[in-house]
Amino acid sequence: MTTLRTPVCDLLGIEVPIVCAPFGPLEEVELAAAVCAAGGMGSLGTAVRPLPELREQWRRLRELTDRPFAINHTSRPLNEEAFEATLDFAPAAVSFHLSVPADHIKRAHDRGVAWIQQVMTLRQAEEAVAAGADVIVAQGGEAGGHGGWVGTMVLVPQVVDVAGRVPVLAAGGIADGRGLAAALTLGAQGALVGTRFLASEEMRIAEEWKRMIVSAGAEDAVKVVNSGRVLPPYTLPVPPNEPRALRTALVEQLARDPESIDPAEAGPRIVAAVLEGRGHEYLPFCGQSAGLVREILPAEEIVRRMVEEAVEALSAAGRAVVA
Ligand SMILES: Cc1cc2nc3c(=O)[nH]c(=O)nc-3n(C[C@H](O)[C@H](O)[C@H](O)COP(=O)(O)O)c2cc1C
Repeated sequence: MTTLRTPVCDLLGIEVPIVCAPFGPLEEVELAAAVCAAGGMGSLGTAVRPLPELREQWRRLRELTDRPFAINHTSRPLNEEAFEATLDFAPAAVSFHLSVPADHIKRAHDRGVAWIQQVMTLRQAEEAVAAGADVIVAQGGEAGGHGGWVGTMVLVPQVVDVAGRVPVLAAGGIADGRGLAAALTLGAQGALVGTRFLASEEMRIAEEWKRMIVSAGAEDAVKVVNSGRVLPPYTLPVPPNEPRALRTALVEQLARDPESIDPAEAGPRIVAAVLEGRGHEYLPFCGQSAGLVREILPAEEIVRRMVEEAVEALSAAGRAVVA
């Protein structure tokens, strides 16, 4: 059977070069297991949740799959206790976003855990290479969740140029095999995909949130300005970034009249809503690739279609080459 395989597959122990994104505080154990079963790499986010709940998720995923998966941390804020517990648990990889913490990379390597570093700028990519990251994810500004402003089309080749032998995955705006094929032609070895998997059958978010993604156009996924008023503070210095989400009353209020929102009241209320499965009422994180998502699908089908379409797209693009 024709498939796709790049060197990063061997490095991460996966069959196809597709990594499912970590989704902060959202429940994605079943999704991660399904992506692993389909030959890709699943991830688990850690934001906001107490450590006993995280440990329970990690245990459950290890029960559901014996394939490699990643546990994610970010500096919003970095929970040191959960990070240390992650190294004790020893997943195949730790993935990290928003800053490049060289000391933590070294700590992971000392414990034999690979490091997948997500970056938003060329400068961060240089830091990631210097700090010894094993894989770099170049995340373009189209992405759902927290990110920067440089588009995937520009950032991926920039990062590839400084990454040397470190494999690069493209993220941001990739929801089908054409996007994966484009990532490969830009020099990446695969893709990290968020929004497309958020609207999967296995993802445990409200059905309403999935339907919002399916019916959204690309232009409905906007940068949430002044998001710092309602989201947890950073514990490590990071370059500027803003999350991308679908418009809600809160998103509009943050843009129009941020002073009318009291961080001390709104912050905890929103975190509580997220943990109760109502996060989409406030901040339904989502990338521009919502414009490419037209149905809710099982994760296995998403991976299979993405590989088939990428193979087709690469063959079609190859036909443009004439002697
Ligand atoms: C709901 C949601 C939550 C996210 N949470 C995290 C996170 O906790 N850590 C992280 O590294 N990236 C997070 N991301 C960003 C993804 O890693 C990835 O860069 C992004 O989803 C790729 O763009 P796409 O959504 O267009 O596929 C999140 C994305 C979404 C949509």
